[in-house]
Amino acid sequence: MRIIVANDYDQLSSRASDIIASQLILKPNSVLGLATGSTPIGTYAKLIGMFQDGKIDFADVIAFNLDEYYGLAAQDHRSYAFFMATHFFNHINIPRERTYIPNGLAPDIEEECYQYEAKIRQAGGIDLQLLGIGHNGHIGFNEPDVKFEALTHLVHLDEDTIHANARFFASLDEVPRLAISMGIKTIMHARKILLLASGKEKAATIAGMVHGKITPELPASVLQLHPDVTVVVDKEAGAALGSIR
Ligand code: F6R
Repeated sequence: MRIIVANDYDQLSSRASDIIASQLILKPNSVLGLATGSTPIGTYAKLIGMFQDGKIDFADVIAFNLDEYYGLAAQDHRSYAFFMATHFFNHINIPRERTYIPNGLAPDIEEECYQYEAKIRQAGGIDLQLLGIGHNGHIGFNEPDVKFEALTHLVHLDEDTIHANARFFASLDEVPRLAISMGIKTIMHARKILLLASGKEKAATIAGMVHGKITPELPASVLQLHPDVTVVVDKEAGAALGSIR
C-alpha cells in the first residue's frame, strides 16, 4: 500500500486527479471505477479543469460507479446517478452510454447485479477504482461483516451510514435503507485502487485499514491484500498513521 499524505483537502484532490490523469494519458480507453460522496468532489472538479485545459480526454473512457441507492430514480436529485451527472459527467466528454451506475429502480435486483458484473467483465475489467471510505470502514456500500467474496449485490445500510448520509436528504427518514453495491470481490478485481480520505473523523478508520488486522469488521482492511493500492489522505485523516509510513 502506497500512502500519500497531503497537506489539506485541496492538495489531496490535486494528487488524486493527477493519478487519474496519468492513468488516462497512459491508457486513454481506461475503464474507471468511480465513487460518490463528499470526498471525491474536489478530485472531479480538478479533472474537469484538466479536461477544459485540453490535458485529458474522456472520449474513450468507460466508467462504472460503485453503488446506487435502491428505490431512487436516476433523475432524483438525491441519487448517485444525479450526483455523477452534476459533479462530473455533464462537464466532460465521456459518452453517456459509456457510463454505468446500478439501476436503483431495477425490477429484478438479482438480474441487475448479475448484468452489472457482466458489463464490467465485457469492458475488460476495471483499470483504476476510485474509493472513499465510510467511518465504519465500508468501501462501496460493503458494510462491516459483508463477506469478502461478495460481487455486486443488494445491501442493507448500517445505522452509521444512514446517519452519515442524512446530510444529503431532507430528513433521516428519507435516507434509503437499501442500496446496490459492487462487492468487495468486484473491488479487489480492479487492477489499481485509489482510496481517498479527508478529515479527522476518518483517522482511526484509516489507521485500522492500513495497520489493523484484515477483517470483514473493517471492510477496507482487505485492501492490504491488493497488490496496487494508493491511499491519499490529508493530514487530518492520516493523523493516526504515526511514523510507520
Ligand atoms: C460512495 C461510496 C461510499 C463513500 C463513503 C465515504 O460511492 O461508495 O463508500 O465513499 O461513504 O463518503 P464521504 O466521501 O461522503 O465521506
